[in-house]
Amino acid sequence: ARVGATVVDGREWLLFQAVPAFELFTGHGAPVPTMRKALWKTRKDGRTNIALIGFMGSGKSAVAEAMGRRTGMAVIDIDTNIEKKAGCSVAEIFERKGEKAFRSMEVEEVDGLRFVSNTVVSCGGGVVVSRPNVRVLRNNCVTVWLWAGIDTSLRRIGETGSRPLLHRVDEAGAEALLRGRYPLYASTCDLLVNTEGKGPEEIAMRIHDETRNNAVRR
Ligand code: S3P
Repeated sequence: ARVGATVVDGREWLLFQAVPAFELFTGHGAPVPTMRKALWKTRKDGRTNIALIGFMGSGKSAVAEAMGRRTGMAVIDIDTNIEKKAGCSVAEIFERKGEKAFRSMEVEEVDGLRFVSNTVVSCGGGVVVSRPNVRVLRNNCVTVWLWAGIDTSLRRIGETGSRPLLHRVDEAGAEALLRGRYPLYASTCDLLVNTEGKGPEEIAMRIHDETRNNAVRR
C-alpha cells in the first residue's frame, strides 16, 4: 500500500478459490456475497479487548496509554483500580494485608474484564500466577506479553520502591522471579513483543498492526 499497489486481503483469494469448487459440486452459481460475509464472520472470535502482561517494568502502563491514544479504546489499569478500591497503594496493601490478600483483590478485578469490551488492559506483573486470571484473560482478551530483559526492567522501575516483591531481592533474585514466570506468560499470551530499545508509541503501533481486524487468532 505504501508504494501505491492495490492490496488484496487473503480472504478474497480464499473466497474465489471456493467459488469454482462450489459451482462444480452444486451445479449452481456461487452466492459470493453470502460466502464473503461468512468468511469475515468466522475470523472474528469476539475478543475485542487487548490485555498487556509481562514483568514489572516491561512498560505495560505506558503502552496501554499509548494504545488508548492511538486507537481511541478505553484503558483500564488493574493495579490502579485495586488501589482506588483499597484507598491505598499496592505497596501498602502488601505491607498491611500481605500478598495473598492482594492476589484475591487482583482476581476480583480481573474477573470484571468479562463485562468490558474494546478496552486495553494493563495488568500487574503477577497477574498470571492466579489461574482464574489466566482463564479470564484467554477468554476475553487478545493477550500481549511485553518482554524486556531484567536490566531494562529494573532501569525502567528505577528506585521508586513501589514494587514490594523487589524490596528484599537483589538483581539475581529479580531475574529468578522473571524467569520463573516465563512459562506462565508464554502460555497465557497470544502475542509476544520484545520491548527492548523501543518506546511506548512504537510498541503500541506494533500491537495495533498485529491485532487489527482480528488478525491474531488461536
Ligand atoms: C507485581 C507487579 C506489580 C504489582 C504488584 C505485584 C508482580 O505490577 O501488581 O507489585 O507480582 O509482579 P507492575 O507489573 O505494574 O509493576
